[in-house]
This record gives sequence, C-alpha cells and structure tokens, in this order.
Amino acid sequence: MSNDLISEMERDAVYKTIYGRRDIRSLFKPDPIPSEVLARILLAAHHAGSVGYMQPWNFIVVEHEGLRQKVKESFERERGEAAMLFSEEKRMKYLSFKLEGILEAPVNLIVTSDSTRFGPQVIGRHSMPETHLYSTCCAIQNLWLAARAENIGVGWVSIVKREDIRAIFGVPPHITFVAYLCLGYVTHFPDQPDLERVGWGKRLPLEEFVYFDTWQGQPSESRKDLPQILRNDGAEA
Ligand SMILES: Cc1cc2nc3c(=O)[nH]c(=O)nc-3n(C[C@H](O)[C@H](O)[C@H](O)COP(=O)(O)O)c2cc1C
Repeated sequence: MSNDLISEMERDAVYKTIYGRRDIRSLFKPDPIPSEVLARILLAAHHAGSVGYMQPWNFIVVEHEGLRQKVKESFERERGEAAMLFSEEKRMKYLSFKLEGILEAPVNLIVTSDSTRFGPQVIGRHSMPETHLYSTCCAIQNLWLAARAENIGVGWVSIVKREDIRAIFGVPPHITFVAYLCLGYVTHFPDQPDLERVGWGKRLPLEEFVYFDTWQGQPSESRKDLPQILRNDGAEA
C-alpha cells in the first residue's frame, strides 16, 4: 500500500469532500448515527498527524439530553455576553443567527487535548509546546471531512464557557477543552457558508495572502502564473 497512488476519480472525491464540507447548525435530521459510521469518523480523526506522534486527543460522545441542555444554557449565556460587544446594528444581526445545533443534532462530541500525554519530552514540542493543540485541530479537520464523506454534518460550537464544559462533563484540570461539535445527518449541505449567505462575511481572495520567498514577496518569473490561477479558483489563465 505504500506506493498506492490516488486515482483521478479518488482525487476528485477528496476535493468534492473538502469543498462540500460545511459548518452545520440548522439542517440536522434526528436519524441516529450508527456506531460503525461514528467509529469510521472517529478513526479518521485518530489518523491525523500529531506532534511527536503524541495523539493528544480524547473524544467524549455526548447523547444524554440533560447534559446537552446544560451546554445549551452555557451557549445562551455566552451568546448574550458576546452580543454586547457588537455595535447595535451588528448585535441584532448576530442575535438573529442560528449558531449551534446542540439539541437538534443526535450526537454531540467534545474534543480535548492532553498536553501531558507521553510526559514532558515529546519530539517537536520543545520549541513549540502548543503543538499538541494544533495536532488536535488536525484531528478535528479529519473528523469534519470524514463526516462529510459519510453525508453527516458537523457544527463547531465555540460559544460555550470552558469552565462550564469542564464542570458538566468532569474534564480534569490538565486537559484542554478544544471543541464542542454537533453531528448528524442533514436535509442538505448548502453551497455557501451560512455567514456568507447572510452577508456577514465572504471568502477572501487567496492570491493576496500567498507570498513568495519573503513576507509579502512577489512571485519569481517561474511562479508568475500562480496568482492568476488562484484568482480563477484553480483554473489556468
Ligand atoms: C474554531 C471554530 C469555531 C467555530 N465556532 C462556531 C460557533 O460557535 N458557532 C457557529 O455557528 N459556527 C462556528 N464555527 C463555524 C464557522 O463559522 C464556519 O466554519 C465559517 O463560517 C465557514 O463556513 P463553513 O465551515 O461552512 O465553510 C466555528 C468554526 C471553527 C473552525
């Protein structure tokens, strides 16, 4: 398998999954996620790269209604606090958005990161101790994409208080809470991010964020075509 090349069809399926992934908050169906499917998604997360092969993640599968209700209450409190930080016009818009599917999604998932796994000396963490968190985010992205390949939507909810999550689920002090995710089958996957559809944000032009050789460096002769190709969403000029 080590020389196993990806065929064009398989490549296209990967890109379809990447571009078709969405953050899902409001389109969840109540259909249960079979354990085999959930296992495949979790295994995909577990196959992410990690600093020094540390695999610092843990996953808590949350289905208990009462626990999810408590998370929803944390969300409501945090949303109210965050709203006060916006200008009045933006606040009304923010408050009109659906930003979680905690109770509608049949499965919620907590992802944590253990900075102590394998002790203090992990290859690659001396200069950048926070890389255990980056590793856990790699696992989350794997999970998000695997879920999309299973036609399961994922919504990331960061509008919750860490201390609440710690208290509700008994997460010990040395473990970092990284993500609260809502998973479920969906009515459909929208083409656009929700925040783009409602006019809150838009995808930035990538060609303005790619530099060459130095910070803000311009392309050399041999790379002059790249910005234009990026502008065309990958199509040649
Ligand atoms: C770290 C992180 C935290 C997020 N937190 C929230 C959240 O609390 N509520 C929400 O509705 N979306 C949340 N999102 C989803 C983003 O809004 C979404 O990814 C972005 O608008 C782009 O849309 P897309 O994921 O559909 O491409 C979060 C995404 C990330 C990566």
